[in-house]
Amino acid sequence: MDESMTGTGRTMTDETFILLRDFIYEQSGIYFADNKKSQLEARLGLRLRANNLADYEKYYYLLKYDPNSSRELRALFDSVTTNETSFFRSPPQIQAFHEKVVPEIISRKEKQGERQIRLWSAGCSTGEEPYTMGIVLKQILKDSVANWDVKIIASDISEKALRSAKNAVYSDYALRSVPPEIKQAFFVPDGNSYRIVDDVRTLVDLQYLNLNDARRVQIMKGFDIIFCRNVLIYFDDEAKKRFVAQLYDCLNHGGYLFIGHSESLHNISRAFKLVHFPGALGYKKE
Ligand SMILES: C[S@@+](CC[C@H](N)C(=O)[O-])C[C@H]1O[C@@H](n2cnc3c(N)ncnc32)[C@H](O)[C@@H]1O
Repeated sequence: MDESMTGTGRTMTDETFILLRDFIYEQSGIYFADNKKSQLEARLGLRLRANNLADYEKYYYLLKYDPNSSRELRALFDSVTTNETSFFRSPPQIQAFHEKVVPEIISRKEKQGERQIRLWSAGCSTGEEPYTMGIVLKQILKDSVANWDVKIIASDISEKALRSAKNAVYSDYALRSVPPEIKQAFFVPDGNSYRIVDDVRTLVDLQYLNLNDARRVQIMKGFDIIFCRNVLIYFDDEAKKRFVAQLYDCLNHGGYLFIGHSESLHNISRAFKLVHFPGALGYKKE
């Protein structure tokens, strides 16, 4: 293949790197540090080719000034996001969710005569996280799930990832950490792959949502539990602070936020009460 056509043969000047990096940051909160120039160059190479552009500077001008750039913006987000995920990722967190947090919320709601649960997987990628939440809810509520008004909102900035999540069909490899009894109960074979059962799939409402869009996030209200795991790592501290403050407002009192197990809210927010579970931390809005 002609290198100049892939875009990968082109180099990004330092000036264009700053322009593109700042543009991506303004739009999404995703921050490419100075040492990530070659990563950005590689990820955007295919966009140059798709748009038949000779260099990265022209790509920047297309994003910034072309009146029809909104579609390209979504393709850009598909290119710059990292969508790695898995079912039952970070087992101690899922255990805390299963054994402590969901039971605590259910028992409080039962006492209050309330039967509504709202969960949010913010940065859900290809769906493994929200479907794991749905499986656990079904395990806890069993047949009484029908007596509850349960909704799991699952959102992402990557349309490509959301399409996979909507498809809800996963390879054997994607199910590698799923215990056999769960695989048996919540997945149905589909050719060489596995499909999530409808009972779980229908609990999940997939939405395109850019977490950096403050006005859009502002209307997300009334959540009992938010998973925003392995998303903040792509933001700089300022974007993290802004966004975590919004997540706090999205939670009900008594609700919990889980972030990635290697992430921390140290120096980002003091609003939450830190709750220690075996091998995992939760952030509670008291
Ligand atoms: C590494 S995946 C994590 C998936 C899942 N939460 C987990 O922990 O397994 C990060 C996801 O965050 C999404 N993301 C990054 N920036 C975002 C933004 N500004 N708004 C919404 N989603 C975003 C990416 O598209 C990606 O799917």
